[in-house]
Amino acid sequence: MTTSKETGAARRIVVRLGERSYAVHIGPGVRDLLPGVLAGIGARRVAVVSARPRADLPETGVETLFLAARDGEQDKTLATVERMCRAFAEFGLSRADAVVSCGGGTTTDSVGLAAALYHRGLPVVHLPTTLLAQVDASVGGKTAVNLPHGKNLVGAYWQPAAVLCDTDYLRTLPPREWTNGYGEIARCHFIGAGDLRGRPLAEQIAASVARKADIVAADERDSGLRHLLNYGHTLGHALERATDFAVRHGEGVAVGTVFAGRLAGALGRIGADRVAEHLDVVRHYGLPWELPAGPADGDLVALMRLDKKATSGLSFVLDGPKGAELVSGVPESVVLSVLARMPRRG
Ligand code: GLY
Repeated sequence: MTTSKETGAARRIVVRLGERSYAVHIGPGVRDLLPGVLAGIGARRVAVVSARPRADLPETGVETLFLAARDGEQDKTLATVERMCRAFAEFGLSRADAVVSCGGGTTTDSVGLAAALYHRGLPVVHLPTTLLAQVDASVGGKTAVNLPHGKNLVGAYWQPAAVLCDTDYLRTLPPREWTNGYGEIARCHFIGAGDLRGRPLAEQIAASVARKADIVAADERDSGLRHLLNYGHTLGHALERATDFAVRHGEGVAVGTVFAGRLAGALGRIGADRVAEHLDVVRHYGLPWELPAGPADGDLVALMRLDKKATSGLSFVLDGPKGAELVSGVPESVVLSVLARMPRRG
């Protein structure tokens, strides 16, 4: 089991992976734990790759190379990873040193991949600065960059040495970034994190991270249980792609969560009250629940068939009598009829 301890206002969750176990610290000001974390690693030098200005970065306590990054899919490329690795080499970074990422999920993903590859792997510490990165992207060791052929096609599993989720970074978050993160918190309601509605933000983040930590500890390489983290994501990813990413990830997950509830209901896996709970939770967090105007249902189904979980027909993570689980071979006719009855914007 994951441990969660409160130290003052901060919480500490441990991702239990044997000798690769690490702590996720959550709370105001936890970025200032960085010098102690780096001292614990034994790093003599560190490269800090940051999408935030220098003034937002904590002290490191060791000789430091600062590299500027930009959040966003446009820089999540192998070229960015190569540029970082060249800068690490020019700085003389060795395997005994460390890398720090500071930014949203696109930054933690690409810096994590550079850390996994440079010298065949050196310690990385993530300082996620968006809600999405704090509750999901920076925890669990998935790192990747995009190819023109698709998102996250080149990557590695590389667990961080620590994650510092400083909630002070969220003070300036734009409204759509809140939606992006709350989409992932809402889906946690249906994968065993409990009802987080009305709880303080740091507690919502900690509970989401704790649930993810338990799942990752049980299935680091995504061969079974880790699929649960993709609750609401099958339709969510299809909506992102069908709208050329005008629908943001968390928005797609929110609509996908409502849809997953209705689909589970149509398949007789859950009752009407539980179906309704999906809409209640999504609306509570102020998230979108309607399909956007535009994408045709048939196109969404075609995109859902491309989902990486879909090894056998249409696959969804669905709630049921034993909780959420991966359900494969869902009949297209049922998917289409549930889609047709979804509320639609415009
Ligand atoms: N974001 C899903 C995962 O980490 O598996």
